Amino acid sequence: MAQIVSPSLLSANFGNLQEDLKMINSSKADWLHIDIMDGVFVPNLSFGPPVLKYVAELCNKPLDVHLMVVNPMNYLQAMKDINARIMNIHYEACTHLHRAVTQIKEAGMMAGVTLNPSTPVCLLKDIIGELDLVLLMSVNPGFGGQKFIPHTVDKVRELRELIDTAGSKALIEVDGGVNATTGALLAQAGSNALVAGNAVFKDPDPHAVISALSAL
Ligand code: DX5
Ligand code: ZN
Repeated sequence: MAQIVSPSLLSANFGNLQEDLKMINSSKADWLHIDIMDGVFVPNLSFGPPVLKYVAELCNKPLDVHLMVVNPMNYLQAMKDINARIMNIHYEACTHLHRAVTQIKEAGMMAGVTLNPSTPVCLLKDIIGELDLVLLMSVNPGFGGQKFIPHTVDKVRELRELIDTAGSKALIEVDGGVNATTGALLAQAGSNALVAGNAVFKDPDPHAVISALSAL
């Protein structure tokens, strides 16, 4: 099955974002993955609404936003304002997940729920029918360029079974340490979408990497 490819802006050259966004616009990438970090939920900061506004104006791909923040629903309006296609919130950051997912969908976006590597897939059992996407972290969130955690492949298999049994339409996306090798294992296990930061932006031929991932 072909994969949706979502290059992660975190690995782009922030000294010349316009150049990297041009590359993304002319590429076969399906989405652009945007990592928002608050320095509390994860031990790092990235960028916020002012940079996002500029990225949204320059990018012609749907925005796949991954919020690594403690109160993600505080950013619902900001996500709507930049016309995000997907709003991904962490399971670990949401006490009232059902309400949050409902609000995201009512705001006209796809609702994505993200799981840290240590959070089991079975915790989604009672909400899987409501979700548009599940984002499985294959590294501990906070930084690009980390090593892929192999157990994620088992989690993709388990999630695929949960989704199919429930008749859910949720897509399975995986984020962290994804390249052609790890991506092939994920695709075989039943993923639909792959996030890739370093593998795309640090390669001399990003277009070839995007095409290779998309063909998996
Ligand atoms: C990590 C971020 C990822 C990151 C992936 O916290 O959520 O999206 O940019 O980067 P790579 O593909 O380099 O692991
Ligand atoms: Zn991410």
